[in-house]
Amino acid sequence: MHVDLGTPVNTALFLYILYSVQRIVFPSTSKPKTVPTEFKGGYSWKPKSHPPTVVFKTYTPKMLEPFNGEDGGRILLAINGTVFDVTAGRSFYGPNGMYGNFAGRDASRGMAKQSFDIEMITPSDQPLDKLDDLSSDEIENMKGWYEHFANKYIICGKLVNEA
Ligand code: HEM
Ligand SMILES: *[C@@H]1O[C@H](CO)[C@@H](O)[C@H](O)[C@H]1NC(C)=O
Repeated sequence: MHVDLGTPVNTALFLYILYSVQRIVFPSTSKPKTVPTEFKGGYSWKPKSHPPTVVFKTYTPKMLEPFNGEDGGRILLAINGTVFDVTAGRSFYGPNGMYGNFAGRDASRGMAKQSFDIEMITPSDQPLDKLDDLSSDEIENMKGWYEHFANKYIICGKLVNEA
């Protein structure tokens, strides 16, 4: 076999192979001057600050209501007695969001009946919706949403009646 190093393409490929082999044999060992504070900065990095911690709490409907995102703060909603922190979904649940009615509320009935109408929402000064008139299909639908939320958001509490 005769390899002609004379043609420009072969020379270019040969140089490229040399360069690649050199990178494997003598890997770059340059160290970042400061500790990276983000994932893109390097393999070993330290976040700028501690991520916010979420404390599991027991909420009543009245305690949940202020977490409706209207003040730009956290947004919580409940499904079947479990409170989810949906702040990351502000575009859905914020004041201008399509599902804003659920913010700070028990969303169970709406999730079950696939409706974000205001009639789905129990006023916060009334006892929790018992959901005992729902069909098994509706319960299944709510369960599907519950799982969606459990996979996507942080569970941060439970919703109970006023003592
Ligand atoms: C007018 C009909 C509707 C349209 C066009 C629509 C559209 C959408 C779209 C585009 C998303 C975003 C999906 C994603 O990016 O993950 C979404 C999510 C969602 N939709 Fe709808 N939707 C409609 C009706 C409803 C109704 C009636 C409900 C009542 C329960 C509902 C509840 C939700 C919920 C809970 C989410 C998940 C948001 C999240 O992951 O935080 N949608 N919808
Ligand atoms: C709702 O919560 C009750 C009580 O915790 C539980 O027994 C039931 O299985 C839940 N239903 C759904 C659809 O998640």
